[in-house]
Amino acid sequence: VFDDKIDACSAAADRIAAVIRDRVSASGKAVLGLATGSTPVPVYDRLVEEHRAGRLSFAGVSTFNLDEYYPISPLDPQSYRFYMDRHLFSRVDLAPNRSHVPDGTVPEAALEAYGRAYDGWIEGEGGLDLQLLGLGRNGHIGFNEPTELDLDRALALPTRPVKLHPTTIADAAKDFGGEEHVPRRALTMGIAPIRSAREILVLAFGPNKAGAVSGSLLGEVSARVPGSLLRPAGPRVTWMLDPEAAAGLD
Ligand code: F6R
Repeated sequence: VFDDKIDACSAAADRIAAVIRDRVSASGKAVLGLATGSTPVPVYDRLVEEHRAGRLSFAGVSTFNLDEYYPISPLDPQSYRFYMDRHLFSRVDLAPNRSHVPDGTVPEAALEAYGRAYDGWIEGEGGLDLQLLGLGRNGHIGFNEPTELDLDRALALPTRPVKLHPTTIADAAKDFGGEEHVPRRALTMGIAPIRSAREILVLAFGPNKAGAVSGSLLGEVSARVPGSLLRPAGPRVTWMLDPEAAAGLD
């Protein structure tokens, strides 16, 4: 639990930078799983600062984003591809062909196959060295929304098309200028590829996240609170919180 979200985001950025430096010097490459939303914006700002100061290069880095609305054009300012270009990709020396964001323009009939291919691309890169996650108010990670699935099936969920939960649609309404403009569907990295990352950082800030944080860390491990599905991954997972988000842990 950090003093505030800026401290937490600086620590997250420092950890990501350390993983990039270590992996690139050990094996010539580093593979990152990345998140969008309001939570990680200061993380990306700090990584860009490090890059501009000449202390961090993204040459050798590959990235895989967690999710994308569906359907959506990458040129739509609300798309997660657009967000990533704006906050990180256009500001660092990452090779354009090494950034992957699920494609919101894949034809309907190809969505399931595209999800399987996405997981194959991650495996083909040798798996994720580090996965950065935010947490939805309803406990979602990526767009793995709460469900009644049994635990084994939930833990095995692959990258796939999903329907967004009403809470997620309500939370996205401000970005889309009203709930009626929010896409009802998305592509999301599954619980299985997220959990297979060698290290996972979960960031959650503010009082709106307190219930999802305590549900994830103290409640039953269950698909009803997707954040709790990280618990079996044990010490590979680090939660980085501000005091408001941690309020339910006392
Ligand atoms: C974004 C993502 C989502 C967000 C979550 C929190 O790529 O996967 O799970 O991390 O909805 O969103 P913010 O940070 O806007 O509160």
